[in-house]
This record gives sequence, structure tokens and C-alpha cells, in this order.
Amino acid sequence: MKTESIIKKISLNKQPNNTRPNSPFTNVFIYICFIISKKKAMSFPKTLSVLFITILFIACSSDNNIEDIEDDYSDIYNLPSTPFNYSDITFPSTFTDYVFGFDNTPTDNPITDDGVTLGRVLFYDVNMSANNTISCASCHLQELGFSDNKPKSEGFEGGHTFRNSMGFANAGLYAPENFFWDHRAATLEDQVLMPIQDQVEMGMTLDILVPKLQDLEYYNPLFETVFGSTQINSDKISKALAQFVRSIYSFNSKYDEGIEATNNIFIDFPNFTAQENLGKDIFNGKLTPEAIGTCVTCHLPNTVPLHFEQPIPEGANQVVFGGSETGNIGLDIDDNVEDNGVGAHLGIPSLNGHFKTSSIRNIEVTGPYMHDGRMETLEEVVEHYSTGVLAHPYLSAHMKDGNGDPRHLDLTPEESAALVAFMKTLTDHELINDVKFSDPFVN
Ligand code: HEC
Ligand code: HEC
Repeated sequence: MKTESIIKKISLNKQPNNTRPNSPFTNVFIYICFIISKKKAMSFPKTLSVLFITILFIACSSDNNIEDIEDDYSDIYNLPSTPFNYSDITFPSTFTDYVFGFDNTPTDNPITDDGVTLGRVLFYDVNMSANNTISCASCHLQELGFSDNKPKSEGFEGGHTFRNSMGFANAGLYAPENFFWDHRAATLEDQVLMPIQDQVEMGMTLDILVPKLQDLEYYNPLFETVFGSTQINSDKISKALAQFVRSIYSFNSKYDEGIEATNNIFIDFPNFTAQENLGKDIFNGKLTPEAIGTCVTCHLPNTVPLHFEQPIPEGANQVVFGGSETGNIGLDIDDNVEDNGVGAHLGIPSLNGHFKTSSIRNIEVTGPYMHDGRMETLEEVVEHYSTGVLAHPYLSAHMKDGNGDPRHLDLTPEESAALVAFMKTLTDHELINDVKFSDPFVN
């Protein structure tokens, strides 16, 4: 019953308009009919003209190629006749073999241009939610680095999510078992089906979603092209969505230009201002040599953490900022809080207060910050690391000073501003404006 009423609702709202514009052949056909009907005193036998018309009609009706199918739905979505290039990307040399060692693409779901195109349509389709009000993109906006600007996102019935919506870029290179603030999703393929079924986010079940999408004719050519059949199932939905998320690579920020020029995060970047280079030094721990680890240690994961006194190991990761380890950065004094993150998920108390070290790519546009969106601005984030770290019993080692106390960087106002300026060099304006990741729907 419920399924039926939902399907009806979509047919009313979103069903493609079936009055196709006439193809040129049809127009010629109509024109010929018109001439014939005007010329009453025809010299040809009537049967011949009927035969002629019949042949023309067959020719018209078999003219049903892919381009026509796409034209059919041009009132629904705006897709290029040749798909955008997602699969053949030229990465800068800073995306090394070591970095691609973390490539989480499964062998049965490589990125293809058509697969990502389907994923893009699904990502932006409000029909993915129970009441056709929100899509993935409602909480993951391209111009906001695929995050939103709320502390907690709003779900399909106006309810609030438990946590802050994080942005993502280069998620295809995040270490496995690392998705969500509490690392509860092992793969992107698993992860992308979870918000659909979340009772606050999209409120669907896969049993309802599959026939619902099957009923939307505009998916037929898309699934057909990718999977060789118009038949939809949840595995195909998961694969296409995961491909779309995975295809969102970021390597065109000001930071990327600098790291490509030097291949050494510890050297001044020629394209940076003095302030940005100072901020980079603070990020790299150069001003706090006594600290066990600083920003770079957690936010730029490497087998051996990068350190300014050591040479950069050949091919090291200097580009994927999403940490592979969780951290407790002393936001709260103890674990008597609503959300204990990884500790609560795994039932391991010593991991209480540990959360994903989220990527700081595009961090300028993904605020508010932290797992619960408690900080509005990057200035507040820096203030936390400068003076605000609390002595949580499970505070990460890299947040402590030599005595085991919470480490406060005690930055001057100039240094704080420089650290913020450095983080802003990670904004990839090309990515957040790239039409190939934008909303394909006409309305
Ligand atoms: C109502 C808002 C909302 C909707 C709709 C939504 N998300 Fe999210 N998304 C979130 C929140 C909040 C988180 C963080 C949740 C957590 O970690 O517990 C998140 C996390 C993610 C992550 C994890 C990134 C990482 O670094 O681990 C990905 C990927 C993602 N969402 C993709 C999607 C896709 C694909 C869809 C559509 C099928 C979707 N989201 C729909 C709010 C939303
Ligand atoms: C112990 C490892 C660790 C260190 C050291 C560290 N961070 Fe973090 N960072 C994290 C974790 C974990 C989070 C997520 C915390 C949460 O939400 O509970 C985080 C969150 C952030 C965020 C917000 C991310 C978002 O998506 O909301 C920013 C910005 C940030 N850190 C910048 C820095 C800077 C700048 C430094 C150095 C001054 C630094 N971090 C040092 C682990 C670390």
C-alpha cells in the first residue's frame, strides 16, 4: 500500500513528459502526407503511395537510438551526449604510488564514465528519500566541499542528524574501514546505502527504493548503459553512488600547486604568501619542536609520520589529508557526553571521545566544524588547539606535551591567523565549481 502511494506520488510529480518532440523523419513524413492529401488528382496508383507511406513510417519508428532516448528525458536531466570524463584522470606527481596504495576501489566496481553519470543522477535525486524532499546533495553541497553549513543536518522530515555532515574529497583514497565519524562503515559501497535507510536522513528501505526507482523511466537508459539491463537492484545503486563519491578527486588547490613545485611540505612554497608559509610551518610543528606530534602528524597520514627534521620518504603522502587513525582531541573533559564516537560504536571505553580525523581539504567551506558542528569558524578551531584542549582521560598521545598534559600551542594572534590562512590554501575552487559534479536535474 505504502509503496503504491509513493509511486503514484512520483508519477504525478516527476514522471517524464511523454510528448516527445518530433524527429526530423516524422516531420518529413507528415509533410509528405500533407502533399499527398492535397493532390487529389494523383497520377500514381493509390496502392503505391500507401506502400511508400508504410515504408516511411517503419523507417521513422525504428529510429530509436541512444541519443533519442537521452533527448526523451532532457526535460528531466541535462546530461552531455558523450559522458564527462571521470575515469581517465591525469593526477599530479604528488599523487604517488604510496598514496594510491590506499585506493579503495574494489575490483568489481571500477570507475567508468557512465557509472559515475548514473551515480551523479542518484546523488541529486530527491526521489531517493521517503517523501521526495531531499537527496544526498541536500546535506552534501558541491559548493560547500560536499558538506552543508549546519551543525547538524536536516533530514527528510526536518529531524536533525546525530552528527555534522562532513565534506569529502579524495574519499577513494581514504584507508578502508574509515568511513563516518565513528568509522562504522567499512567501504564506500556499504556507506552510501546507509543514509538512504537512516530514519532521520532519507527514511527509505531498499525494498521500497528499488521498485520506486524502477518506476522512474528516466533511469532506464542510465542503468541499461552501465549494467546492460534496465533492471535495478540495491547492489547497482550502491555501486553507482560509490563511483560518484569516489570520482570526486581534489588536486587543484593553491596547496597542490605549492607541493607540486617543491615536493616537500617543509620547504616554503613559492606560490604562498609569507603568512601562508608561516601557517604551514605551524601546521608542520616547526614552532613547537618539543611536541610529540602536531597537525601534520594526524591530518596527513603516513606509515612513518612526516617530521621536519627528517627527509621526506620517497613517494610519501603529502596530499590526502583524511587521517587513517581516529583521534581524541580533548573537546570534552570526560566521556559523560551524548556521543562517544568510536568507543561507543566498538564498545571499547578507551576509544571514547575518538572520532575520524576528517579531511581538511576544502575546510574553508565545510564549516561548522567537528563531529557535532560545535565550532562555527576556523578561528575557533585554531583557538581550541591553541588554548582549549581538555584533559580527557583518553586524550590522544599526539595532543599531549612532554609531561603528558594537554598541549596548548599558545599561538600569538598573528600565528593563529597564519594557521587559518594556510588551511584556506586547501580550497579547490575548480572542484567545487566543476559542472561534472553538479546537479544534473533541470528542476
Ligand atoms: C540528512 C543529511 C544527509 C543526507 C541526506 C546524506 N548524508 Fe551523507 N552524511 C551526513 C552526515 C551527518 C554524515 C556524518 C555521519 C556520521 O559520521 O555519523 C555523513 C557522512 C557521509 C559520508 C562519509 C564521509 C567520510 O569521510 O567518512 C559520505 C561518503 C556520505 N555521507 C555520502 C552520502 C550519500 C552518497 C548520500 C545519499 C545516498 C548521503 N550521504 C546522504 C548527512 C547526510
Ligand atoms: C591527535 C591527532 C590530531 C592532531 C594533532 C590535530 N588534529 Fe585536527 N582533528 C583530529 C580529529 C580526530 C578531528 C575530529 C574531532 C572531532 O570532531 O571530535 C579533528 C578535527 C579538525 C578540524 C575540523 C574538521 C571538520 O571536518 O570539522 C580541523 C580544521 C582541524 N582538526 C585542524 C587541525 C589543526 C590546524 C591542527 C594543529 C594545530 C590539528 N588539527 C591537530 C585529529 C587531530
